[in-house]
Amino acid sequence: MKTPPLASLRLQPLRRRAMAKSIVIALDGPAASGKGTLAQLIADHYGFAYLDTGSLYRGVAYLLLREGEDPKDRLAAERAARDFSLDKIAGADIRSREVGAAASVVAAQPAVRDALLDFQRGFANRPPGEKKGAVLDGRDIGTVVCPHASVKFFVIASPEIRARRRFLELKDAKPGLKEADVLADLMERDARDAGRTDAPMLQAKDAELLDTTHLTIEAAFAAARRVIDGVLRRCED
Ligand code: CDP
Repeated sequence: MKTPPLASLRLQPLRRRAMAKSIVIALDGPAASGKGTLAQLIADHYGFAYLDTGSLYRGVAYLLLREGEDPKDRLAAERAARDFSLDKIAGADIRSREVGAAASVVAAQPAVRDALLDFQRGFANRPPGEKKGAVLDGRDIGTVVCPHASVKFFVIASPEIRARRRFLELKDAKPGLKEADVLADLMERDARDAGRTDAPMLQAKDAELLDTTHLTIEAAFAAARRVIDGVLRRCED
């Protein structure tokens, strides 16, 4: 059975069902480090459900901007997070620089994080589509959302490589885009994400550091698989 599209999931904790504990794979790291691509490949390979938790923060930010609200307005941001459901952003362009910047502003607000927490934990513990595991990527998955995850990665890459990757991703939709501006955005967002008080971006003590600066996506995926296969083997023993 295929995982239902994210857009069809609402932000209540997902339906409870009796099952063995799910296998949770957490990937955290700075913007554009390659964790999203890696997370999707891991989920496809092992047949696990995938949640891009950044899409929740981006979604809340997108809706605020669309309504002409200020992402720094704590009450408006909390309201938007509490009312949020993924179908509200179905088909919306949440990958833009503007939405990314606003996402990291709303993500620094504890009430917003709190509103989005149950859904993320529910997804991890009871993955949709009867999957036996879940892959979540974000900033605080290994530290706050799923501190007991079976496998944790902290995915990094040099700022220049990350800016290059994000520039290539965005440039077709934004012809005048400059790579230097993308780099500046990433640095500003990383500083805000790492410097906030609530759930800052942080490598969990038990997370594997995966530096993708000089790795192709295939090589990064192979390295991640070696770690995951080792853990899965130990679980089966
Ligand atoms: O794809 P990219 O790495 O650029 O960012 P993202 O994962 O889409 O996340 C967008 C923003 O959401 C981040 O800059 C964080 O501020 C926030 N975020 C967070 O605070 N916690 C998460 N678990 C995921 C994202």
